[in-house]
Amino acid sequence: MSLDLSSSSDSDSDGEGGGAKRLRGAGGGGSAGKRARVSAAGAAVDLPPGFLDPLPQAAASAAPAKSATKQFWKAGDYEGKPLGDGAPQSSVSGLDHVRVHPKFLHSNATSHKWALGALAELLDNSLDEVINGATYVNIDMLENNKDKTRMLLVEDDGGGMDPDKMRQCMSLGYSAKSKVASTIGQYGNGFKTSTMRLGADVLVFSRSGGKGGKRPTQSIGMLSYTFLRSTNKEDIVVPMIDYKNEQGWKRKLRTTFADWNTSLQTIITWSPYSTEAELLEQFSSIKEQGTRIIIYNLWEDDEGHLELDFDADIHDIQLRGGNRDEKNIQMAKQFPNSKHFLTYRHSLRSYASILYLRVPSFFQMILRGKEIEHHNIVTDMMLKKEVKYKPVAPNGVPKDANMVADVTIGFVKDAKHHVDVQGFNVYHKNRLIKPFWRVWTAAGSGGRGVIGVLEANFIEPAHDKQDFERTTLLARLEARLVQMQKDYWSGNAHRIGYAGTRAGRYDETEVISLVKICHWLVLGWIRLEEKFEPLMTRCPSPVLLRRGMPNREAE
Ligand SMILES: Nc1ncnc2c1ncn2[C@@H]1O[C@H](COP(=O)(O)OP(=O)(O)OP(=O)(O)O)[C@@H](O)[C@H]1O
Ligand SMILES: [Mg+2]
Repeated sequence: MSLDLSSSSDSDSDGEGGGAKRLRGAGGGGSAGKRARVSAAGAAVDLPPGFLDPLPQAAASAAPAKSATKQFWKAGDYEGKPLGDGAPQSSVSGLDHVRVHPKFLHSNATSHKWALGALAELLDNSLDEVINGATYVNIDMLENNKDKTRMLLVEDDGGGMDPDKMRQCMSLGYSAKSKVASTIGQYGNGFKTSTMRLGADVLVFSRSGGKGGKRPTQSIGMLSYTFLRSTNKEDIVVPMIDYKNEQGWKRKLRTTFADWNTSLQTIITWSPYSTEAELLEQFSSIKEQGTRIIIYNLWEDDEGHLELDFDADIHDIQLRGGNRDEKNIQMAKQFPNSKHFLTYRHSLRSYASILYLRVPSFFQMILRGKEIEHHNIVTDMMLKKEVKYKPVAPNGVPKDANMVADVTIGFVKDAKHHVDVQGFNVYHKNRLIKPFWRVWTAAGSGGRGVIGVLEANFIEPAHDKQDFERTTLLARLEARLVQMQKDYWSGNAHRIGYAGTRAGRYDETEVISLVKICHWLVLGWIRLEEKFEPLMTRCPSPVLLRRGMPNREAE
């Protein structure tokens, strides 16, 4: 893979920056055929050949062109013109390496069908930084000084990224987070898919406090689909510049100043900021450490409106179109306990408030100047019931004694108004993966108003973190949840006043079976033995009466 994360070589001899060695491309006379080895967050990581190649000198000179489309779903339609003779590049070692075309950035991002799902990935990255000292994530709208368009800001005061970690962040599939750790991130993909799903371009400013004797650093990196597309790049080139703190912020070179400067010029040409000073100004909101992500050239919908609606509510970021349902918005005012069900699809404030099962009390999520109040869906429930679910592996052996999901099931407090709310909220490692997952589709009102919450760590989220991998374990969980909802409904629906719920405690198949049993009893084909007793006591009286059977419940 040739993902070109350019800046310049580390001319320092103090060993800062993990000692990443610069690899030159085919024309660079370096060691592009070898894998580079960098260490970040204590973990050594192999980087592919060409990974740290400097940016081609010509890259910065091309002027920004108006992008062909501003709509995300159409933005994949472009043919990158071959550079040079178009032959695949081979490395100095003579081995061809797989190149990643910029279009991949787009196709990779299509995994996020829902823009708020993409935004959640950035919140995850900030919350994951709690272990490195993060106390807030701030989501806001900014204005691009160059063309007055709106931009999206996501900023936190977590550990930030040193130059090597920043290069990992911008590359595909490298995650410094361990899969077994309690972090939400695991695939090394979320930053790229989410930023590219929300806008064509992203700038990252990150400051790292400098641990283990290293000096503090700050880096600026740009992942710009507009730049790559407009300059017909065939590889993903990511200009990046670094600084280190040595009695003030000094340029930190990985190769030469010329390379460093080419990256700076490219960033200046293709970003909302026109000078190095303007870029550095962005660090003013970051203290010792933190990361500031600015997504610009936000995607538009078919009608030429920004997909993200900043106007509907000055303290929220909302979605237009299909995710927005005016009837639901009105109902949310009338039924406050169903508010999240009715609004999370279009409102970031609503979605973010239920996105995590637990948020540390010191960690604030601030959306456009107002804190997002964490909300536990369990507090919306009444007639609650706790059910333990222990997953069993396909071979029948319990998967892991610790793998238990505590399911809380109940009626939403608005259920007596027969509001059509239902579904299970399935969290994985604290993160909501499936909001209000409707597992049971019954004819009539069956299951209405029944909601649930569980944390299932024994199944794996899909890469967009909006669904789970379709495994047998998931299928079993789903079947169990269906049964749980049916049982809960048969036992409790009458308490909410669903008409005919004594009979309605059964779904259609159950009623048919009971009718058959009753019929056989009447015909004398079977005897009323003890094993039928439980069935008889649950048997819907109208059915029994029609069949001329005694109504045992009336007894
Ligand atoms: N806000 C941030 N602060 C510090 N480091 C960050 C931040 N955002 C991203 N990173 C770094 O960039 C890496 C890549 O982020 P990305 O979201 O692409 O992957 P991930 O979080 O590791 O896994 P996943 O794809 O499951 O989200 C992270 O592992 C982390 O090291
Ligand atoms: Mg992530």
